[in-house]
Amino acid sequence: MRIAIAGGTGTLGRQVADELRSRGHEVRVLSRRSPEYRVDLTTGDGLDEALVGCDVVVDASNNQTSTKDAARTLVEGSRRLLAAEDAAGVRHHVCVSIVGCDQVPMGYFKVKTEQEGVVEAGPVPWTVVRATQFHELMDMVFTKGARWRVLPVPRARLQTVASADAARAVADVAEAAPRRGRVEVTGPETVDARALARRWRSITGRRALLLPLPLPGKAGRALRAGVATSERPDVRGTVPFDDWLRDAVATRSRTSGPGADNGKRGSGDGTP
Ligand SMILES: NC(=O)c1ccc[n+]([C@@H]2O[C@H](COP(=O)([O-])OP(=O)(O)OC[C@H]3O[C@@H](n4cnc5c(N)ncnc54)[C@H](OP(=O)(O)O)[C@@H]3O)[C@@H](O)[C@H]2O)c1
Repeated sequence: MRIAIAGGTGTLGRQVADELRSRGHEVRVLSRRSPEYRVDLTTGDGLDEALVGCDVVVDASNNQTSTKDAARTLVEGSRRLLAAEDAAGVRHHVCVSIVGCDQVPMGYFKVKTEQEGVVEAGPVPWTVVRATQFHELMDMVFTKGARWRVLPVPRARLQTVASADAARAVADVAEAAPRRGRVEVTGPETVDARALARRWRSITGRRALLLPLPLPGKAGRALRAGVATSERPDVRGTVPFDDWLRDAVATRSRTSGPGADNGKRGSGDGTP
């Protein structure tokens, strides 16, 4: 099949592209800086040309700079993408979303829910793949915090998944017929965000104070209750956070050499 990946240069999208290529499909990578097909979802530039002859479109685009920008890319962008797909005769639109997004009335989650609504009401047969937070995202968030020696973490039940596991699941969906329904993809274990932060600190050896971050209101209650997790997902990734992180740390130290951590490693203890 000829499959276009919007956001095919991102964390998830590039792995979906590699996976589908390895299965023998013709893959087109679409993004603003793609060396192949330059498209901008916020204007529609490049979309018509990029979708000629495509059977399936996977939307793995993203924008988290602000709620407004997220909506421009994901909600308005989905409208533009679907209209161009309809004109090009695309048979299946795969939208990547987030487990429980409709249960968390908060900025980015609300945008993702709205994006799902646009897809479900749109002109192209669809499947929504809802994944839990990627291990990569948690590592990035903790790494950013640790620069200031603090890890501000709310109480939230999470079930993080390796993006490689999620990419294989998205590729499976892209190869199958549209479901007009959802597929849920999670990681192998459910862990409180603060426990995850402690594990991150211990495995990376970074010194950072774990700062309990209050998350008031309905969104906070929902995340504490575990709406971002799924007891019976359609696909359960196999790589636990700790194994993924140990590999990532080993790879980083191989590629960056000594001193890459700027001497900020410590015992990781002495904190709540
Ligand atoms: N990260 C997570 O933990 C997680 C968990 C569950 C679900 N998801 C979902 O998975 C999807 C992918 O997330 P990700 O973390 O892999 O994203 P990412 O790494 O931030 O990649 C975003 C991609 O979107 C492209 N893009 C951004 N703005 C664009 C625009 N205006 N026009 C065209 N392309 C644009 C980027 O390329 P250019 O900059 O070159 O345009 C890039 O290829 C999202 O729908 C997200 O909600 C993510």
